[in-house]
Amino acid sequence: MSIQLGDIAPDFTQESTQGTINFHEWMEGKWAILFSHPKDFTPVCTTELGEVAKLKNEFEKRNLKVIGLSVDSLEDHKNWSKDIEETSGQKLNYPMLADVDRKVATLYGMIHPNADNTLTVRSVFIIDNNKKVRLILTYPASTGRNFREILRTIDSLQLTDNYKVATPVNWEHGDDVIIVPSISDEQAKEMFPKGWDAKKPYLRYTKQPG
Ligand code: BEZ
Repeated sequence: MSIQLGDIAPDFTQESTQGTINFHEWMEGKWAILFSHPKDFTPVCTTELGEVAKLKNEFEKRNLKVIGLSVDSLEDHKNWSKDIEETSGQKLNYPMLADVDRKVATLYGMIHPNADNTLTVRSVFIIDNNKKVRLILTYPASTGRNFREILRTIDSLQLTDNYKVATPVNWEHGDDVIIVPSISDEQAKEMFPKGWDAKKPYLRYTKQPG
């Protein structure tokens, strides 16, 4: 049975570049991004891992920790991290799981045999501070991910957890949002005192709260 949104993220203990990690303990009550890449010493992965290191401040602002994974060895991860630092100008500042026995990859369904029998695809799991899986992305090996888009989805998740709103197409932090349909106009008057623009009775735009 594959992992679905709303499930508790499966716990595991595995070796990493920052020592043995028990996932649930490591999260420390924060949000987490768990992401896999197909292989060490490959070009697309090299760009992705450098970019993730550069976004450390953005992750911290969102009370979030990041952890990477491939089925390569700890020694490979350590050697490769020198190349990542050299090419991106940024030291790896988050742990990389060395999932040689594929324990975590199997637990999280990161190996898609019809794409590749042994390597992990580019999976992303966003997990909230209650350890619930909130978003799952799966990219093929040949397509590098857009981590700015991943930050955008975290902004949407954290905003919509706190207010009775949803975020419309192409929404970016600061843009207008949509009042959720379960809120009546009566209730909305109290929750959104600045008002709203009703394009339809069920499509009510309001300023981003908070
Ligand atoms: C890459 O990261 O460049 C890559 C990895 C596996 C297959 C193709 C590309």
